Amino acid sequence: MDIDNLLVTLASIHEFGIKTNEILSKEEFSQSVVDAACSIIHSDLSSLMLTNENDELYIIASKGLSKKLREETKLKIGEGVAGRVVASGEYIFVENIETDARFLKSSHVEKYISKSFISIPLKVKNKVIGVLNINSSKNKKYFDDRDLKLITILADQAAMRLENIDMFNNLQAFYLEMIQALVGAIDAKDSYTHGHSTRAKKYAGEIATKISMPQTIKKNIEYAAIMHDIGKIGVPDSVLLKKDKLTSEEVKVIRQHPSIGYNIISPIRFLSAIAPMILYHHEWYNGAGYPEGLAKEEIPLGARIIAVIDAYDAMTSDRPYRKALSVKDAVEQLKQGAGKQFDPKIVDIFVKILKEEKILN
Ligand SMILES: [Fe+2]
Repeated sequence: MDIDNLLVTLASIHEFGIKTNEILSKEEFSQSVVDAACSIIHSDLSSLMLTNENDELYIIASKGLSKKLREETKLKIGEGVAGRVVASGEYIFVENIETDARFLKSSHVEKYISKSFISIPLKVKNKVIGVLNINSSKNKKYFDDRDLKLITILADQAAMRLENIDMFNNLQAFYLEMIQALVGAIDAKDSYTHGHSTRAKKYAGEIATKISMPQTIKKNIEYAAIMHDIGKIGVPDSVLLKKDKLTSEEVKVIRQHPSIGYNIISPIRFLSAIAPMILYHHEWYNGAGYPEGLAKEEIPLGARIIAVIDAYDAMTSDRPYRKALSVKDAVEQLKQGAGKQFDPKIVDIFVKILKEEKILN
């Protein structure tokens, strides 16, 4: 490899770092590590394994492996090449399996489809969290020391990032628990909305999956569904729990809850993306909602999703002033509101989900 090629390779490792900066799912990130490894050292066979809570190694991402092999492979620490790498914390590099003393006596040599492979530990401080395996392919029979060095750079960067994803997710989980506790307090205040946020999260996630949203956006929509009414914490009980008809003044007060929610959520950095979904969850598709009278695609998609499931849940729950509507009647109302209050596409998807789950016949 000449210096120009080396520079190109290093640049692609650097670019990999930038490109993957926003990825928050371990699966997605691991897949980019595997893809980057293959493209950097010209292979088409690689896997990234992580340890699970039972101290087993499993394949979280791979290239060139069958689905069956990927799903079924589980190794104990110390078992197989990857298991040995985790146990020792040292890489195993086989330049040529046919001349390598460690494999000469093994009758399993034929089992190895490649002649050369690198198995490198993913280490954070002194802890091994997984292994990156790369096998040579037909195009390039043997790896050399330079390949090993490049893969080491990638593996070190990947290990650090995987650990960060874990830390970030833990921090998120902590915030989320706090917020769920807050939301629980609101749900508890108004017994009629009990369980509302949990159901909203479930349906929001299902809709997001149906429209193939990226994992991060799906998560945000789920969070927004849980927290959309958090601003009600700032509405006095005398208004929030009033059983009689609200005066126009009281309607004004209750209509502040999206803005109050927005002000609570937007300063929390990892939740700032969902603040607009909370602010606009009472907007109408035809522009007749509040607080700003946004219409159609001006309303964030997450807010349009919440509007549908929020209305459905309200209609199918008992209220002080009326009994719950049947699922069939609630769906009828949603269909009638499609294009007016609700985004018709979201109503369609939601109705499909209710049918698939046999909630609606
Ligand atoms: Fe609301």
